[in-house]
Amino acid sequence: MQLDKVLEKNFAKKRKIIPSKFHYDLQGSRYFEKITKTKEYYVTRVEKEILKKISNELNKIFEDNLTFVEFGSGSTEKISILLNDQVKFYVPLDISFDFINKSSKKLSEYFPKLRILPTYCDYIKYIKLPKNISKTKVGFFLGSSIGNFYNGEEKKFLKNAKKTLGKKSFIFVGVDLIKNVKILKNAYNDKGNFTAKFNLNLINIINKKVKTKLKVKDFKYIATFNKKKSSMENFIVSKKYQNFFINKKKFYFKKDEKIQAEISNKFTISKFNKLAKSSGWRVKKHWKDRKKYYAVFLLQA
Ligand SMILES: C[S@@+](CC[C@H](N)C(=O)[O-])C[C@H]1O[C@@H](n2cnc3c(N)ncnc32)[C@H](O)[C@@H]1O
Repeated sequence: MQLDKVLEKNFAKKRKIIPSKFHYDLQGSRYFEKITKTKEYYVTRVEKEILKKISNELNKIFEDNLTFVEFGSGSTEKISILLNDQVKFYVPLDISFDFINKSSKKLSEYFPKLRILPTYCDYIKYIKLPKNISKTKVGFFLGSSIGNFYNGEEKKFLKNAKKTLGKKSFIFVGVDLIKNVKILKNAYNDKGNFTAKFNLNLINIINKKVKTKLKVKDFKYIATFNKKKSSMENFIVSKKYQNFFINKKKFYFKKDEKIQAEISNKFTISKFNKLAKSSGWRVKKHWKDRKKYYAVFLLQA
């Protein structure tokens, strides 16, 4: 669904939500990359630590002639830790059109023999993969993106990913674990304000795509922890009453009204095990980092 249609529906409700996939225009992807380099955002660091461990085991887990399929591939920096001669094809799937093309081009300079087939799509749906790629597909869903879905959509994602990857496939899923609230809050409130800029960039995206004239300076960013849901919740907050039009329909934000820009659900090992099983996957193994902040699960279809 296009952004205007989604906002028309979501802004008519009391709890106003902007789904996280709309963050990623080129600027949004660039801000996200900045976040991954901050001291506070541990996710990228600990996931890379685990992927390095996994890279030593790949030839024990899989035979040769693999196709790697990455859902929400972003910069492709993480996959480069895992690429070896077993991998013949790499299919990065992403909604950020310019970014996926730029990162694929860069990756091909480092891995000239690898066939890279960037595919622009919305990964929540079933995706028809390119033809003539090797049969054994290994999926990747990293960056704790499994925590960014609303209303149980993570199950829909995992079911469709299984359909996309097909029989005898595998998927690695990066899962952020419940931890000290201070560490979580800091991760979404970095001192360089990149998380704030990333979220407030939604205003620029809405202006461009929906032709509104909202001003970034009329909003602020906050991130809070929802204990009941074990979820970090990011909001953009309207500093004043303001109204605007979407497809000629009038909407308004009240002063101090919070618009939900992202959720990052945190898991326990058993909660993710349950989710994977109920989505039709078998859990083969999981790895954790030294601090036990994060886990990467290997699931088998
Ligand atoms: C949180 S970032 C993670 C990037 C990278 N995988 C990592 O671990 O650093 C999410 C990535 O998924 C992409 N993305 C978000 N929602 C998407 C969707 N519904 N369909 C396809 N790609 C999506 C974004 O463009 C972005 O590159």
